[in-house]
Amino acid sequence: MSTLIRNGTVVTAERTFRADVLIEGETVREVREGIPGAAAETHIDALGMLLLPGGIDVHTHLDMPFGGTTSSDDFETGTRAAAFGGTTTIVDFAIQARGTRMRDALDTWWKKAEGRACVDYGLHMIVTDLGGAGLEDMDDMVREGVASFKLFMAYPNVLMVDDGTIFRALSQSAKNGALICMHAENGGVIDVIVQRALAEGKTAPIYHALTRPATAEAEAVHRAIALAEMAGAPVYIVHLSSEDALNQVREARDRGLPAFAETCPQYLLLTIEELTRPNFEGAKYVFTPPLREEWHPPKLWDGLRRDHLQVISTDHCPFCFRDQKTLGKDDFTKIPNGGPGIENRLQLIHHYGVNDGKLTLNRFVELVSTTPARIFGMYPRKGTISEGSDADIVVWDPAAEHVISAATHHMRVDYSMYEGFRVRGNVRTVLLRGRAIVDGGRFLGKAGEGMYLKRAARGGAWA
Ligand code: URP
Ligand code: ZN
Ligand code: ZN
Repeated sequence: MSTLIRNGTVVTAERTFRADVLIEGETVREVREGIPGAAAETHIDALGMLLLPGGIDVHTHLDMPFGGTTSSDDFETGTRAAAFGGTTTIVDFAIQARGTRMRDALDTWWKKAEGRACVDYGLHMIVTDLGGAGLEDMDDMVREGVASFKLFMAYPNVLMVDDGTIFRALSQSAKNGALICMHAENGGVIDVIVQRALAEGKTAPIYHALTRPATAEAEAVHRAIALAEMAGAPVYIVHLSSEDALNQVREARDRGLPAFAETCPQYLLLTIEELTRPNFEGAKYVFTPPLREEWHPPKLWDGLRRDHLQVISTDHCPFCFRDQKTLGKDDFTKIPNGGPGIENRLQLIHHYGVNDGKLTLNRFVELVSTTPARIFGMYPRKGTISEGSDADIVVWDPAAEHVISAATHHMRVDYSMYEGFRVRGNVRTVLLRGRAIVDGGRFLGKAGEGMYLKRAARGGAWA
């Protein structure tokens, strides 16, 4: 099958230019002006549209057991919602249960995704235990295309690992070329502050944020970078939320260290005020790290502009308000941590970044697609529109008006963190490897059509 997208404006991380795009099978064959119509069987007219490389969300949690329940989107509902929002690749997390092999977790997560994923997907491995054959397991995972690992400095007794374990993982990654991703918050200190709050009868959702200070994030980011420096490895900080943490990454990068970080739309667009909503609605905004005071988001936008931050992901981890968030009605520590957003990332960052003049179109593409592909071993197959790349293309209408709402979104969750937000710029058509999977608000894809991506370990050749 061949498709010609005509009259569009191609946007890559480097440039914006008028071109037709010829797709043969699953691959982009030509990108240039004036490709004759006879070159393809199917035509898409993209006059007035932007052609973006498919969005890449490298931080999602679909069908994830957490906090005594399971995230409400599975690989089918979550990736379908991703497609509606212009995301054609996700990287989700398999979780190694303590005392078990990483391969067991990989098999479990492959089963969750198989027959369900509607967009392409890779997997990171969450490491909880490096005893026994842990280091060999990491090499084994890299051979399977699991080229990145996440370790937690928070959630004591659940996911948290000690500094020795982090250092060993980093040292192994220096040899096998994988990338270590760090959830950076000082979990031990936070736990003490949490226990004090509970002892004082402070149980409402706002105490989730008040017991996780930005200093606890900054300290852990500093420590993660120091451990990586000692191990001679790169490090990637996930869901960075605060100015304090950002300063640590900036200082490391100024020293020339291979330290990278992502932030998420919620940290750019929402503040701690959301957790004070009445009727327990603050629980909708309970995730980790928490939302911060209003002076943090402008600093994060600035960090994105100056490349102190390299990626915008969502940390999509939805729990329904009615049946799941209410598990913590009498105790904020029992509110499942996480929020939905896989569908809205491109809309929000295009509107509040590009339309508001904070980001260029090219930087937008770089943050939501190209750099994630580079850092996580998928470039140039993913993350760009050029000859030989997968034909993952978003036909983006920069003038389309849209109001975000739980009533119309496709995520399987009963609220939106961005309810009522008006955005200009939205998806018209989405191609996954050459096939239209979304067009004019209709889903044309199929569960199971998304492919597992074996990602390359870059051996230090980071973006
Ligand atoms: O609250 C969050 N972020 N839930 C998902 C797990 C994690 O730490 O990323
Ligand atoms: Zn995390
Ligand atoms: Zn996460």
